[in-house]
Amino acid sequence: MKIYIIVGSVREGRTAIKVANWVQQSIESYGFNTVQSEIVDLKAWNLPFFSGAHPPLTGIYDQPKQQEWADKISHADAIIFISPEYNHGYSPALKNALDYIGKEWSGKPAAYISYGGTNGSRSIDQIRQVATQLGLIDSNAVIEIRDIFARNSAEQFEANSFDEQALKAAVDKLIQYVQ
Ligand SMILES: Cc1cc2nc3c(=O)[nH]c(=O)nc-3n(C[C@H](O)[C@H](O)[C@H](O)COP(=O)(O)O)c2cc1C
Repeated sequence: MKIYIIVGSVREGRTAIKVANWVQQSIESYGFNTVQSEIVDLKAWNLPFFSGAHPPLTGIYDQPKQQEWADKISHADAIIFISPEYNHGYSPALKNALDYIGKEWSGKPAAYISYGGTNGSRSIDQIRQVATQLGLIDSNAVIEIRDIFARNSAEQFEANSFDEQALKAAVDKLIQYVQ
């Protein structure tokens, strides 16, 4: 089983990559033989702003990197979105990445991790709505990280026991959906 950890911030100095690294290291530490995780960084992908004539749910992919992104997502069994809160919503990079393709999202269980000046809950509410429209399966695995600014100043995100427990529960839920 392959879990993608999608890094939803492309900002300079982003916290998202630290949270993604924590998620991947934690998954590796669980020691599941059948579970692999991979960080999928939207900053590295640098998808252009979607400007195609055809809604991606038509399956017509004629935009730069569109087929490549579709092929990438098609290889995931489950997805964890790292979704920062921007102006009471989720990031434009994540919206673009979701909109960029269609059917490849469908049927994959998803979990959501957010944070922000508060706890990122509004970001998660919005991304779940859009992801469900795309056919992602809402596993009701949600982690709202509190006090992010107190725990993101070091090179590594400093998870607390609440985060650790919530992540393990989220990964367990994703595994249940895939089996
Ligand atoms: C454009 C922008 C808008 C933001 N709006 C909110 C907000 O509405 N609520 C909130 O709690 N935090 C907000 N923040 C704080 C971010 O959630 C916080 O800086 C977080 O670290 C951003 O994630 P990133 O570093 O991974 O990009 C905002 C930050 C930015 C850059």
